[in-house]
Order: sequence, then C-alpha cells, then structure tokens
Amino acid sequence: MKLTPEEQDMLDGKYGRAVQKSMEILTILGEIFNAESLVNVYGVQIAGVSYDNLGEAGLEFLNEMAEDGKVRVLTTLNPAGMDRENWQKLGIDKEFAKNQNRAIDTFAKMGIITTCSCTPYLIGNTPHFGQHIAWAESSAVCYANSVIGARTNREGGPSALASAIIGKTPKYGYHLDQNRHSQVVIKLKTPVKGTDEFGVLGKNIGDKLVEIGKKVPYIMGIPSATVEELKSFCASVATYGGVALFHIEGITPEFDKYPKPNDVIFEINKEDLLKTRSELIDDDLEIDFVSIGCPHASIHEIAEISRLLEGKKVKKEFWITTARPTKRIADEAGYSKIIEDAGAKFAADTCCVVAPIKSRFKGIMVDSAKACYYGRAKNKFKVKIGTIEECIKEAIK
Ligand code: F3S
Repeated sequence: MKLTPEEQDMLDGKYGRAVQKSMEILTILGEIFNAESLVNVYGVQIAGVSYDNLGEAGLEFLNEMAEDGKVRVLTTLNPAGMDRENWQKLGIDKEFAKNQNRAIDTFAKMGIITTCSCTPYLIGNTPHFGQHIAWAESSAVCYANSVIGARTNREGGPSALASAIIGKTPKYGYHLDQNRHSQVVIKLKTPVKGTDEFGVLGKNIGDKLVEIGKKVPYIMGIPSATVEELKSFCASVATYGGVALFHIEGITPEFDKYPKPNDVIFEINKEDLLKTRSELIDDDLEIDFVSIGCPHASIHEIAEISRLLEGKKVKKEFWITTARPTKRIADEAGYSKIIEDAGAKFAADTCCVVAPIKSRFKGIMVDSAKACYYGRAKNKFKVKIGTIEECIKEAIK
C-alpha cells in the first residue's frame, strides 16, 4: 500500500505508540485486501463496547492505546452493556457496572464521544452522500452505505479505533465504486409496512442471499419506507444475510448509478413473508420481557410508544432502548414521563442483546428480526416478533 510521507512517519513511530500501532493495524488490513492507499474518513463508530464482549483482554488493548492515543475524527461508540445512569433499575450487577465504566472511561480518555448507539446517524455522527467513514456496527454500516450513500466496510473494534486515531481507513471494498454494483435483482410482490414487517423482509432476503452466495441486492417493489422501517430492514438483512449494501429502486440514492443484472432472481409474495414471520415466533412461548429499540429507537418511535402507553400500566419487564441524546429529547418532550409512569424503563446507550441478561427471561417480544436472532442465539430466550402496538399490548396484558 502506498503511504504518504506523513503516514510513513506515523508507521515509523514518530507520532507515538498509539499512532504507530494504529498504522500497523491499518496497513496490515490494507495489504490483506489489496488497498492501494488510505482514505480520509469523516467519522468513526466503534463496536465491541460492552464489557461482555471486551473482557479484560479487550480492556488491556484499550488501555494501551489510551496511553498516548487521541482520536482525530468524530467518533462514537456502539451500545454498551448497561445504561450508565439507570443500570441498577435494569438489574445489572455492581461488578459488571464497574468494569463497563472502566471501559467507557478509557474510550473517553482518547477523545471519543461516549454516547453508545447503533444509530449514530440519528444523533449527529451523520455522514453525507459519498463520504468515507469507518463504522463497525453491522446495521449502521448497512444504513450508511445503502440509505445515506456514504462509504464504509464493516470494521472490527481494533480497526475502527485505529481509523479514529489516524483519521483514515484503507481504501478497499465498499469504498470503491466497482464493489457497489448490485449482484442480484429481487422483486417484492406484496406491500410491507412497519418495523416488524421490514425486519421480516430483511430476514427473507438475507436467508436467500446466503443460499446463493450474493451480497448486494437490488430490490424492486418498495414504493416508500420510513427511516425506522429502513433501519429495521438494515439490521435484519445484515444479520441474516451479512449484507452491508443494498439498493432499493426509487428510494436509495445510488439505485440508478450502476448497471444492474437483467434478470429478476427472486420474487417475494405475501405467503413467503408469512412463512418467514412464523420462523420468528417460537412455540411454547411464555413472554416475560418486551423490548423496543433494535436498532435504537428514534424519537418518532418513542413518541408513538408514549402515545400507546399513556394512562396504562405495564405488567412485564419492558425496555425502550435508545441513544442517550434521543432519551434527552424524549425527556424534554414529556414522552419519558408518560412511559416511565406506565412502568416501562428506558435503557439508554445499551440494548437487550449486549446487556448481560443471558437466561434472565424466558421469552422476549420485540418488533425487530435482529433482536429475535440474538435473543435466541446469545441470550437463550424464546422469541416473538410483532408490531410496536402488539408489543405494547403484550406488555400491559
Ligand atoms: Fe443495536 Fe443492539 Fe439491535 S446494538 S441493532 S439494539 S442488537
């Protein structure tokens, strides 16, 4: 990989140990993927923030980088294992809280904004069309590439941190036009609506793409979609299909920029989606936990939740997971009071997947296909997907 004189100095250690280590990570990555050079990034999003993922080994690496490392670009974090302001009410134990705080304080020492969210695009870490970024959370990577038209590969925790410290990333993969072409055309023959249905669609498409070994779909037949529906779709298609970029005809900004394959490979009808939905509802289900906000709830969704919960009482553990800045807006708007008066809990800067709650509940109801996947795989819950309204009905039942 071709380095500028400044980059070479960084690699040679003239800018300190953290910069050198970061350049080592980026040059190795660049060489593996045949990148010709590094490219400047507008911003970074770092994943692997929960102490559950990091452990002591991860924390040791962070501490080493924080000795003389400072980020050069806007950098935020993916959800942590707990809400730093509300962890006791969410049943997180003291030892975990202490370790999680150690990790976040280490990120802060490097100049990273310690808001922990998988929807950085909703809280100011918002690139514009065509900008290069280095993000790590799969749903956010998919949203940035597809919906915003920014450019990012899916970074690992160390490579994202390295990019934040250098302000650059190796230019390969989705940073290059030639890798942003669609590979397969899919036609939707039935309307989809709501975060849950877009999540079901994401699983349907993701599963099919895995079967045929393709990654970049061109999707026809979706006349409109909200930000919330698209974020749910991104989370699901990334989880089930490893998709980091898609094009939706008439909706996403690059849909007509590149030539697309001629043939429609798949059609999806109502029955297909009903079948996929049934795969997201377990048998012998006893729901004792409801969670909305995977990916993190927008202020629009929180407004809807408060409208549906007004004057009611929840009977089950009910989390609304969102970014701290979104929670602050909800506080100002009066939504938080309505929601908390109903007995629901905010879990800001964390979520029902990364929090250390394995086996704490029997069954979870969510509006997110991604949360179903990890609810089963990571937390050993039985799962059920439904609309936001159905989730709330379940919580107050
Ligand atoms: Fe975000 Fe957690 Fe879902 S990180 S996408 S809320 S699994």
